[in-house]
Amino acid sequence: MSKESFSQFIRNRTRGVLFGRTRLGDFLNAMYGFRILLKYSFSQNNLRSKSNYRAFLTKQYHILEKGLSLPNPRQNFGKEKIEILLNITKEYIEKYESDKLSQLIKNCLLEYKNSNSNLSNVYPSLATSIDEFTLNHEFENIGGTKIINKAKIQNAIGINFLEFVQTRTSVRNFSPMQINYDDIKAAVDIARHAPSVCNRQAWNLHYYEDEITMKKLLFLQAGNSGFTNSIKGLFVVTSDTKQFTRLEGNQVFTDGGLFSMNLILALHSRGLGSCCLNTCVPYTTEKRIKKIANITESERLIMMIGVGYLKEEFKTAYSEKKPISEILHRH
Ligand SMILES: Cc1cc2nc3c(=O)[nH]c(=O)nc-3n(C[C@H](O)[C@H](O)[C@H](O)COP(=O)(O)O)c2cc1C
Repeated sequence: MSKESFSQFIRNRTRGVLFGRTRLGDFLNAMYGFRILLKYSFSQNNLRSKSNYRAFLTKQYHILEKGLSLPNPRQNFGKEKIEILLNITKEYIEKYESDKLSQLIKNCLLEYKNSNSNLSNVYPSLATSIDEFTLNHEFENIGGTKIINKAKIQNAIGINFLEFVQTRTSVRNFSPMQINYDDIKAAVDIARHAPSVCNRQAWNLHYYEDEITMKKLLFLQAGNSGFTNSIKGLFVVTSDTKQFTRLEGNQVFTDGGLFSMNLILALHSRGLGSCCLNTCVPYTTEKRIKKIANITESERLIMMIGVGYLKEEFKTAYSEKKPISEILHRH
């Protein structure tokens, strides 16, 4: 929690408004995002943090798991990429020790080796490297590929997905009931199944219930007037730039947005209402939010989400949706 005085707080906020309204402000806002991307993103030759390593390795081993899941995997595919994966995983283990990620990679390599029976003849050195690296490793059925059963999916859809999605609406009038943290955890357990680029899952979810912090954050967010006091819990969704390359600047927000949507539906499934709250703020305000919310510099703000249980009956904006014809363009 920040120790600044109220007047300092107001001054900072006013400065934030000015930065959002001038050309110089526009430029500085763009530069803020650009600077964070340059400072924290990774490339194969520039792995500066454990997050960088983990993201790179996830991206690299995903090539393998994806290749193995194709209808007709090319025999002995991806030699160079697998060599890089092997080398950098070894480097990772040396620096940070073996963990679940390195175990997953080993499983993946073993599945690759098992499904390419002539690897030892075609690429003997690669086969030996995989053998040496996975020596004594017990293959577990996590990592690599898995079998999906169509009937299981159809059963899951049986709960009338259309109605479920249609009954979600932005809630700005919550029940005064305190939130049971188990419901929050259960929702996050669902939300974490969201797709992400190369399965990097770069999102973080910061959750606040204490009134003073929530009020400070909501004051800086400024799209919640009229229902600030109704909000019982507040999420700040972020994506960590450390897990993206320089070319993936937009992906920070795409993945964060997908995760947020999954979370919103997950909350809905637990009887919790939610309202997305934009974080389209000048960079000065983003910095203030990060400081108050205890969020690291490399994380970018995706959105805040106000939550609370549903009242028995409440009014919501109608929010008419565009018809299919305005959305779907058949080419
Ligand atoms: C990223 C994002 C930011 C939003 N920010 C705000 C906000 O600051 N304040 C607010 O009252 N609603 C906010 N909303 C909610 C939208 O107004 C709402 O989703 C839209 O009107 C459609 O209504 P529905 O959610 O009930 O379908 C936001 C929604 C999104 C997706």
